[in-house]
Amino acid sequence: MIILKTPDEIEVMARASKLVAETLQALKREVRPGVTTDELDRIAEEFIRTRGGVPAFKGYRNYPKTLCASVNDQVVHGIPSRRVLKEGDIIGLDLGAIVEGFYGDAAVTVPVGAIDPRVAELLRVTEEALYNGIEQAVVGNRLSDISHAVQCHAEAAGFSVVTDFVGHGIGRQLHEEPQVPNHGKPGQGPRLQVGMVLAIEPMVNLGASGVRILDDQWTAVTDDGSLSAHFEHTIAIQASGPPRILTKL
Ligand code: MF3
Ligand code: CO
Repeated sequence: MIILKTPDEIEVMARASKLVAETLQALKREVRPGVTTDELDRIAEEFIRTRGGVPAFKGYRNYPKTLCASVNDQVVHGIPSRRVLKEGDIIGLDLGAIVEGFYGDAAVTVPVGAIDPRVAELLRVTEEALYNGIEQAVVGNRLSDISHAVQCHAEAAGFSVVTDFVGHGIGRQLHEEPQVPNHGKPGQGPRLQVGMVLAIEPMVNLGASGVRILDDQWTAVTDDGSLSAHFEHTIAIQASGPPRILTKL
């Protein structure tokens, strides 16, 4: 069952989402060669808690940290550690917060110093794929119109979308129905309705789409070792016109 949100509930979700966006903005400024992913996690947790929020991921299915910090060939769910970032790396920063019982969830992938031009293109195309998906999140469309738009944009640039992970409905739970795949034919799945709130989150690989999970049971990496990018927004479908991007400042 897809839980529709009232306008008042969406305002609360907007506050949770804004906190996520502000935290990501603060983290981006800390990304540089020499910083550890643990330091980024500590900054994120402090930032959220001092503003009255609760980290959404910490303790979720025993996930140990506030932040998911996925470096290079890590696709999603990289666990912050003493790993030191170096020039030329890319890092996915994925973050959730709870405010007044509602979740916000967003992710960005950013360069560490100067990066290879083809890798910069991977980041740009993945973010564009997210926005193309968001553009389809309008009343009258069906869920897979989002998925199809994401897939088409990534593949047109010669990249591949990860199919083992999906976006999701979000509200009083981090993960609600429906699942939001990043691939598929258009015109399928539930009709989009006002009050639906979705976390759309394409993961795009420079090489093949296959992923595997490391022995830590969390970190997803590309099978072929190629680099991977991840962008995510929490969006609310409007009665008319384009969706409201709750995690955009
Ligand atoms: N954005 C991811 C998701 O929606 C992050 C979840 S990490 C977890 O699934 F630790 F909370 F699982
Ligand atoms: Co998510």
